[in-house]
Amino acid sequence: MEMNVLEFDRIAREVFAPVYRFIAEKIKVKTGVTEGLCVDLGAGGGYLGIELAKITDLKMYLLDSSLEMVDIARDNIINAGLAKRLHAIHGDVHNMLMPDSSVDLVVSRGSVFFWEDTTKAFREIYRVLAPRGIAYIGGGLGSPEIRKQVVAKLKEMGREFPLAGKKGKKDHQALFRRALKDAGITNCSVIRSEAGLWIVIRKEMME
Ligand SMILES: C[S@@+](CC[C@H](N)C(=O)[O-])C[C@H]1O[C@@H](n2cnc3c(N)ncnc32)[C@H](O)[C@@H]1O
Repeated sequence: MEMNVLEFDRIAREVFAPVYRFIAEKIKVKTGVTEGLCVDLGAGGGYLGIELAKITDLKMYLLDSSLEMVDIARDNIINAGLAKRLHAIHGDVHNMLMPDSSVDLVVSRGSVFFWEDTTKAFREIYRVLAPRGIAYIGGGLGSPEIRKQVVAKLKEMGREFPLAGKKGKKDHQALFRRALKDAGITNCSVIRSEAGLWIVIRKEMME
């Protein structure tokens, strides 16, 4: 990421807090997965995972390729009193350490736009998903009301959304559809709405 890690983390804490709460609630309602193992990919400071843990019984790995982010997430887990269920780990979404079919829920916010090879990453996510497992991956600011608040606060700070890189006219929806097809994943959807751009992958029972 182009942005300084500490600066991103300050904005995540001070500006994005309602976004994580909103998305965590949405993930709970949409997936119905409230127990078992969850992995938050590109978890950053771990704010989405922490909000999701507060409203479920999930055990979680908060995985990030930045060691600095992993350290921040580890502190945040301890401060939230969730160290028994949540663990911050260093890793790369393209090559995860989890065994095949071992993860009930994969979540990720704001990270997929930075992955170098989304086809490889989606294949890897499908590999680790348990039968009936669900992945909920994407980006956005929650609801139009929250988006308005966040954009206004960022403007006061001399910033705009998205915060780092990946600006411009790239058609991510088409790129992700193509990558999912190339990865051989058919039970999936890529939806752009006011809530952002979200990919849902469901693993079949018999695979
Ligand atoms: C914009 S931040 C989002 C952080 C967090 N999910 C949030 O919403 O606050 C993107 C994160 O993805 C991580 N990331 C980028 N590429 C990755 C990869 N290949 N594997 C794991 N993490 C990655 C970055 O280190 C960064 O922490």
